[in-house]
Amino acid sequence: MKVTVGVSGGIAAYKAAELVRALQRQALDVHVVMTAAAQQFVAPLTFASLTGHKVITGLWPLSSGEAGSGEAELDSSIEHIGEAQSTEALVVAPATAHVLARFAHGLADDFLTTLYLATRAPVIVAPAMNVNMWEHPATRANMEMLESRGVRIVPPESGALACGMTGSGRLAEPEVIVEAVVGQLHRRNDLAGEVILVTAAGTREAIDPVRFLGNRSSGKMGYAVAEEAQRRGARVVLVSGPSSLRPPANCELVSVVSADEMRRAVLSRLDQTTIVVKAAAVADYRPCVLAEQKMKRTGPITIEFEPTEDILREVVLSKRPGTLVIGFAAETENLLEHGRSKLLRKGADAIVLNDVSRPGLGFDSDRNAATFLTPKTAIELPEMTKHELASRILDEVIALRRPASFVAETGLVSSNSTLRE
Ligand code: CTP
Repeated sequence: MKVTVGVSGGIAAYKAAELVRALQRQALDVHVVMTAAAQQFVAPLTFASLTGHKVITGLWPLSSGEAGSGEAELDSSIEHIGEAQSTEALVVAPATAHVLARFAHGLADDFLTTLYLATRAPVIVAPAMNVNMWEHPATRANMEMLESRGVRIVPPESGALACGMTGSGRLAEPEVIVEAVVGQLHRRNDLAGEVILVTAAGTREAIDPVRFLGNRSSGKMGYAVAEEAQRRGARVVLVSGPSSLRPPANCELVSVVSADEMRRAVLSRLDQTTIVVKAAAVADYRPCVLAEQKMKRTGPITIEFEPTEDILREVVLSKRPGTLVIGFAAETENLLEHGRSKLLRKGADAIVLNDVSRPGLGFDSDRNAATFLTPKTAIELPEMTKHELASRILDEVIALRRPASFVAETGLVSSNSTLRE
């Protein structure tokens, strides 16, 4: 299996040689592309010797000012298309702030950036830079954009940096990058043929023409699940409450506002759905009466609320046999106990249990941790980005389809998961 390592121009470029070796130990056929700046740090010959392949150093044959790389002079202006189609994964390590910015904005002014635009293979980037550059809002915005487009980010580690500062910005260890690459390769197209309906974000229950009862859900978790599912080959229907997030391209977006609208959108699509993932934070109550005019401030008021329908329960009762139903549960105390009773009450195949009281995780954060709870198991999914968590959740959902005998025979349980009976 061929993977392409893109090396860009930072001091960590020398560490890419170690990464190449580590990828080769996974029986991967590694090819290397270098930016012009990377060649100021490491000679292309290093990678040519390690890989046994010519190193691609530029878009044009013998372009002036380009460092030579022996056989690398054979680069051609259409080679990026061939490379883009033949590679199974593009791994950029180290990825400089400049390369990330060019990826984010679609600039294609050298081989690596052109390859990034042309390939449909999974892209994994491992940034390395000065801590201030890493934390700059421009870099953060670029990372967010890339992540929302499905690029897998292997975040830099904290420690002493080459610039003399201490903080986040050191290239992740080769084995961490390799794990991300292998994860992406295994997951390619494993959801082909599935139709996944994902609900996301919070619902809003109108009180009067200008006010509503809402909640803090941003939709990030559900959108990440939709995006990952789509990347892994599923057809995705995203039923979303109001959210400022950009929906993944090519998924069917159904925008709703209230719990009742969400309910109708979900139930009417159940017969074409093979997996339902209910990440939305649905309002449990709505006002009994909707005021027709804006309510005036007069003094203390009492608003009477009635419960909304439990959509997850209705899905479980009216789904086609074989359709998997995964709920989410946001809890603040007695997690496992509440999670288990919710799982039983709702009758779902699994519940993704979130501790929303943990600072920095959950609502509106880019990171989360969860427990994937089935009637028999509780699988810990430790803190990670919501995109990575979405992928891990989908791994566990796919595992539910496998017959128990297969799991017993192969001992196949997703990596890094702790199983507790
Ligand atoms: N859910 C739903 N319809 C509702 C409320 C919740 O489909 N009216 C779904 C959510 O999308 C989520 C799961 O049920 O997948 C659990 O939601 P949560 O708010 O944690 O649980 P509740 O059912 O509201 O139970 P409680 O308020 O007692 O915690």
